[in-house]
Amino acid sequence: MQFRFTIPFGLIALLFACAAKEKKQDTIADSSVYTEIHRPQFHFSPPTNWINDPNGLVYLDGEYHLFYQYNPYGTTWGHMSWGHAVTKDLLHWEHLPVAITEYPDALTGDSTMIFSGTAVIDKNNTSGLCESKDCMVAIYTSHVHAMGEGKVQHQSLAYSNDRGRTWKRYGKNPVLDSKRKDFRDPKVFWYEPEQKWVMALVIPDLYKVQLYQSKNLIEWKLMSEFGDMGDTLRIWECPDLYQLPVDNESGKKKWVLSLSGSHPQGPTFVGMQYFVGEFDGTRFIADDTKQPPRYVDHGKDFYAGIVYNNIPEEDGRTIMIGWVNNWTYGNLLPTAPWRGAMALPRVLSLRKQEEGYRLIQKPVSSISSLRRTEITDKNKISGKALELEIEIQAAASKEAGVKVLKTGTEETIIGYNSETRELFLDRTHSGETGFNKDFGSIERATVYPINGIIKLHIFIDHSIVEVFVNDGELTFCESVFTTQKNATVETYSKEGTSEVRIKAWELNSVWR
Ligand code: FRU
Repeated sequence: MQFRFTIPFGLIALLFACAAKEKKQDTIADSSVYTEIHRPQFHFSPPTNWINDPNGLVYLDGEYHLFYQYNPYGTTWGHMSWGHAVTKDLLHWEHLPVAITEYPDALTGDSTMIFSGTAVIDKNNTSGLCESKDCMVAIYTSHVHAMGEGKVQHQSLAYSNDRGRTWKRYGKNPVLDSKRKDFRDPKVFWYEPEQKWVMALVIPDLYKVQLYQSKNLIEWKLMSEFGDMGDTLRIWECPDLYQLPVDNESGKKKWVLSLSGSHPQGPTFVGMQYFVGEFDGTRFIADDTKQPPRYVDHGKDFYAGIVYNNIPEEDGRTIMIGWVNNWTYGNLLPTAPWRGAMALPRVLSLRKQEEGYRLIQKPVSSISSLRRTEITDKNKISGKALELEIEIQAAASKEAGVKVLKTGTEETIIGYNSETRELFLDRTHSGETGFNKDFGSIERATVYPINGIIKLHIFIDHSIVEVFVNDGELTFCESVFTTQKNATVETYSKEGTSEVRIKAWELNSVWR
């Protein structure tokens, strides 16, 4: 996405800003905009305009905050600001006004965009910016375009003493500057054993994650660097570092470093990868430096995922949200008046397997509260907002699975090929695909049956399909744009007969 930064911003931005100040920002949910044909009904999307990365995921007093990269003035990437929404159950969202934005300087034409970053709760007022124990501090990349000098990226602070509703800029920004053009996406968390803040950020073009420490969120010191490993086929962005429990080793925890970069099928697309290892307070050391890259999601539309800060210890979950889109065609998605959505919040853990520790992802359990009565007749499953639980008896046919969002000529296929041992998601005939030559694709990943069965947990939400395979050991998240208002679901098998057991529920909308 580096090319996006070469767009001249200067004078145009100045004129743009004057007009923008006049325009009222449309941020409050208007239910009529939630009925557009592609609009997800239980995934987060903004009422209007462009979004990309989730930012500043933080829990405070019963509210999960979602800040996100947002263009308040259009449906394509630009004028990046932090949009804002909150939820109590990670499903029903309340839209709030834009949290952090900046206008180009009226005299110089210099402009700053608010790029991705984190929010933390500074309970002990380590920063000196707080008036209460609920004080929220945002650490974000300030992307400055200075007239005549080009761009520079550094890290800045803003703070809120009213649960994220209003924000002030720290007066002495930036707090971290390395005079680099690309230096971004700070993820900050509290490291309890040493009573300090730790920041992970990337130098994208060097494929490097840097770890910094601070006692006050203001002065930062470089501790270590991580890189030259895994997939370096595309620039690195949006790192995160967190500790996860190992499901099948009681009491054991390991550290995970995840980041965004290239897609498992190559650098034409973006995707996310992760490393498992140990963090000793100073450096992250991967368990196995030689192993092939591990990817977070195998679909084409899961990017820039980060995890929540400040989830209470008694809850203990690590919850990730990712952006449902891909930079290769991001600005072209055939939706209006919005563009971009967030994947379902996922609960993360690890599972020890032969080849090492594997990331396990499950949808937050609150999603089952949206279920309507179970559809018991397999031949009558229809709808575009559905949850499916499927078991495929793998070896009895060459290929078996399910066709979803099926209309006369359109379908999205999720199938298992027993010969190649690959699960695949085929959106080549899913509906509107022509807006980008590479959109109509088939994604594949190796999966082994467990006791002869491949288990799928699938969420279909109008233009989003999310698949959790074998209790979360593999996931696929993809956009699809069927042109029809109604669609059905059908199981199938080829060259043999596999039993495909299916349970199905229509899901309620969270926007009505
Ligand atoms: C990732 C990203 C980040 C950057 C933001 C800008 O999608 O490119 O690296 O901070 O988007 O919108």
